[in-house]
Amino acid sequence: MNEIETHLQEALIQAQQALAAVTSSAEIEECHIRFLGRKGQITALLKSMGAVPAAERPQVGRTANRVKQEIDVAFAAARAALDRQDRVVVQALDVTLPGRRRHSGFLHPVARVMDDAVAIFRRLGFVVADGPDLETVHHNFDALNTPPEHPSRDVKDTFYLADGRCLRTQTSPVQIRVMERQPPPVRIICPGRCYRRDTPDATHSMNFHQIEGLYVDRQVSLADLKGVLGEFAREIMGPDVKIRFRPHFFPFTEPSIEYDFSCIMCGGKGCGVCKHSGWLEISGAGMVDPAVFTAVGYDPETWTGYAFGMGIERIAMIRHAINDIRLLYENDVRFLAQF
Ligand code: DAH
Repeated sequence: MNEIETHLQEALIQAQQALAAVTSSAEIEECHIRFLGRKGQITALLKSMGAVPAAERPQVGRTANRVKQEIDVAFAAARAALDRQDRVVVQALDVTLPGRRRHSGFLHPVARVMDDAVAIFRRLGFVVADGPDLETVHHNFDALNTPPEHPSRDVKDTFYLADGRCLRTQTSPVQIRVMERQPPPVRIICPGRCYRRDTPDATHSMNFHQIEGLYVDRQVSLADLKGVLGEFAREIMGPDVKIRFRPHFFPFTEPSIEYDFSCIMCGGKGCGVCKHSGWLEISGAGMVDPAVFTAVGYDPETWTGYAFGMGIERIAMIRHAINDIRLLYENDVRFLAQF
């Protein structure tokens, strides 16, 4: 092989390596000057071909043509690669593309109702109180005037621990805890989790939420209770919602009532949701039983009070027309994201 051919071959390899590493069109231009410019490496070699002996010239000429072709290919490849890169950059900046949706978090419907309920009662002057999920039987039943034979105490209905405590079946025991530690007057709400040994179905869950209310002062009446619950109903469900009381029984209140909201679906005219009664059953309430005051050391001759409890899931279900409580606990984002 002629010396010029060897040099051409070396120059080609250098050019290919240099072009493989370029990152800008300016660098491609530099390569062009270095190898193919007027004083370029390859240009100089081609010029020196005049000195090649005539017999070798055809062979060297062929090599020179091949090197020129290959170097053209290397330049074209480098330009194409750069062009692709430029396009990617331009595409990344394409302001006409639709924006990427950002997934923001949202509150669970049960948490929203709970937050709303707490906010409403706070505006009405109630203070939030707290108690443990694991309760003593004293707080959950005895002090709430619930006799030992009461069916709600049965192991079939309540989760008991080996140490005799239980998972609270209601938020009412927080009433007892608050009254045990502070003198009247009392105006509290207790939001929280409750547990019952129920078989899950469309309206029952072993785990649910309640918000409890207690107001103790002198000369409290059922009318006060109706005023507060009516205000709550209008705030949480809408300005036209009405409330009604029905006689009922709870061990810890006397008299006891159950209260209903007028149906928000039909405005009280009667529909499938309210079973054509015009009313939706919400929960229980009443005037605090004197036996409860005695249990916490309040004088029942001096103090009067009302108490109420309500299921948060029930209100969330009414608010959003959800017909199965289990949907609230399956954590299916497609369901939860609707609210
Ligand atoms: N604790 C009751 C329940 O779980 C609800 C209730 C009724 C609470 C009457 C009260 C009340 O404070 O006075 O069904």
